[in-house]
Amino acid sequence: MPQSFFILSGEHLELGADEVVSISKSYDIKTTFLVESKLVIIKSNTPWHKIAERATFVRDCGNISGTFNDISEIEIPVQNPKSFVCRAFNLSSKKINISNIERDAGTILKTRWSSSVSISNPSLVVYLIITDKAKYVGYADSTITLKRPKKTIKYPTELDWKLSRCMVNLSQLKEGDTLCDPFCGTGTILLEAESMGMHSIGIDFDFDMCDITRRNIVANGYDPRVVNSTYQFIPKIKKEIDAIVTDVPYGIASRSSASPKKVIEDLLSAIPKKMKLVLVYKKGINITELSKAKKYEIYRHKSLTRVIVVR
Ligand SMILES: C[S@@+](CC[C@H](N)C(=O)[O-])C[C@H]1O[C@@H](n2cnc3c(N)ncnc32)[C@H](O)[C@@H]1O
Repeated sequence: MPQSFFILSGEHLELGADEVVSISKSYDIKTTFLVESKLVIIKSNTPWHKIAERATFVRDCGNISGTFNDISEIEIPVQNPKSFVCRAFNLSSKKINISNIERDAGTILKTRWSSSVSISNPSLVVYLIITDKAKYVGYADSTITLKRPKKTIKYPTELDWKLSRCMVNLSQLKEGDTLCDPFCGTGTILLEAESMGMHSIGIDFDFDMCDITRRNIVANGYDPRVVNSTYQFIPKIKKEIDAIVTDVPYGIASRSSASPKKVIEDLLSAIPKKMKLVLVYKKGINITELSKAKKYEIYRHKSLTRVIVVR
């Protein structure tokens, strides 16, 4: 089984690792993985760039070609790249001279391949990743930049794009699947889903919010499907939906019809039990039906810690 690696950016480590695993599982349910510090190793038939195109909290990634004890042993299944650069990462608890490792590996590979070293625009990046348990060799022949939507109309209650994108990925949807956000607000979650090739349906009981969402979606060239209604509309379209991903209203700035606890309980009773669900809400709400679901706490400031729940 091919192996790939993902070095996380450091923001929300557990969330970032689970996001990478979830994306891989959306294409290959047999994905297995290993997490060591900021490193996630994925064993799966999902190509690393499919994950990289979607993952929010990844800074470096590529294929794994094996492990090594000594630099002279490193093996990369690439024939004479035009140019290359070596990048070493020390994710272990020991002090290691990373520059020496990069220089020694560079000298060996330069002779082996007769290729030149290019720091700014290499055709191949060789990665040497050192953890407390192993030394991995990885490589990437392209750099991936996220295809991000633009948010033409913003609003104070909007959820930041990183959490929105990550939540979409935790739902394990893939291109062509349909996500519904029943509290869509300005459409941040819908936009991230559309930018990754999913279809989206937004619902909001506020007419103006529906209008903002539609305009944000159209501005990115996607087809808006936004319903001005309450989440009680979901049963009418449940056959079209593969997952619910939403940011539950919780504050005075976000007009709501009921308390957040009541909204979540009513939402849960309006959707099929087996439907994939990713919610974010303000910490402090206990929902019995979600007591066993996976939860992540996201600290924002002293009066706002969010909880992301994945069922
Ligand atoms: C926290 S905001 C969502 C923000 C959104 N994630 C964004 O990035 O813009 C919650 C939204 O839920 C809507 N809302 C509140 N109660 C509702 C209900 N019962 N049914 C549908 N929408 C509701 C509000 O109008 C508000 O736009």
